[in-house]
Amino acid sequence: MRVFVAGASGAIGTRLVEQLVGQGHEVIGTYRSPGNTRRIAALGAQPVSLDLLDAVAVRKAVLAAEPEAIVHEATALANARFTRNLDRSFKETNRLRIDGTDALLAAAREAGVHRFVAQSFASMRHAREGGPIKTEDDPLDPAPIRGTRESSAAMRHLDEAVTAAGGIALRYGGFYGADNDGLVYPVRKRQFPIVGDGGGYFSFVHLDDAAAATVLALEHDGPAIYNIVDDEPAPVHEWLPVLADILGAEPPRRVPVWLARLFAGGPAVMMGTDSRAASNAKAKRDLGWTLRYPSWRQGFAATYARQAETTPAPRASLARG
Ligand SMILES: NC(=O)c1ccc[n+]([C@@H]2O[C@H](COP(=O)([O-])OP(=O)(O)OC[C@H]3O[C@@H](n4cnc5c(N)ncnc54)[C@H](OP(=O)(O)O)[C@@H]3O)[C@@H](O)[C@H]2O)c1
Repeated sequence: MRVFVAGASGAIGTRLVEQLVGQGHEVIGTYRSPGNTRRIAALGAQPVSLDLLDAVAVRKAVLAAEPEAIVHEATALANARFTRNLDRSFKETNRLRIDGTDALLAAAREAGVHRFVAQSFASMRHAREGGPIKTEDDPLDPAPIRGTRESSAAMRHLDEAVTAAGGIALRYGGFYGADNDGLVYPVRKRQFPIVGDGGGYFSFVHLDDAAAATVLALEHDGPAIYNIVDDEPAPVHEWLPVLADILGAEPPRRVPVWLARLFAGGPAVMMGTDSRAASNAKAKRDLGWTLRYPSWRQGFAATYARQAETTPAPRASLARG
């Protein structure tokens, strides 16, 4: 299949291109930062420079590539500073999820591309009621808290626009497995605390497993939404001490809710105490997806034992807001 991967130079994009090329697909991979041409070519794809927020350029690139399938993996999180207002940190990514998705869908329509798969997110989006683990059919939060509303709306837009066009939205868990994993630095520095009872649930997925699910999704008809997460959604009080231990860090600090709200803001408190995570039953059943790392327990150990002492560039932590 001839596949157009938007965001091919990113954390998930590079893994995806590698797997697609390995399975004999022809890949056109887009990037935004000038230095990434060679990176994409080295993976065996045809590199194309593209700003997804330029709809005219998107149309031109897609029509020229004549793909049979399009995958949207573009986000803008590499240099994002995570402040108490998540919407501010996700501003550019939200535009990529709304305007970037719309531009790609319009181009796909015009080029007669019927397979369309796009990146969405699984955790922290569901109505904060009932059990901690949600399926694709469970309702999303009808009233996201302040500081997350624009991001929630952008993810909802992507899910709805893609499925309305007959495509597949993949709600990935929190990625790990790359050199720039966002949790490593704050956990090593004890800047990621357990807030309150630490009862907020997270879903994770190793990047290789996420890429494998994406390749499978390309072989299936939509419309559909799949949670691409591992088998073990877990509360912060469970996974965070394990990750700290694997990284050789001191145990995480504990912070009362009122203090976290004051210094880190409402979104950090919600994530730490009240967020829901996701079930992967549908993706395993419908896509025939099997995971190399069914749990973050093995995945974190395998990943960070290898990365040993390499500490990525500092990122703002939840605690510092
Ligand atoms: N589910 C999750 O947990 C999740 C999801 C996404 C990202 N992340 C994390 O966030 C961190 C950063 O992610 P990342 O390394 O993939 O970098 P990123 O900055 O999020 O970039 C992702 C991809 O989107 C492209 N891109 C950015 N702006 C674009 C635009 N305006 N038009 C077209 N393409 C654009 C990038 O191109 P260039 O690289 O060439 O600029 C890259 O190919 C990583 O730690 C990653 O794991 C996590």
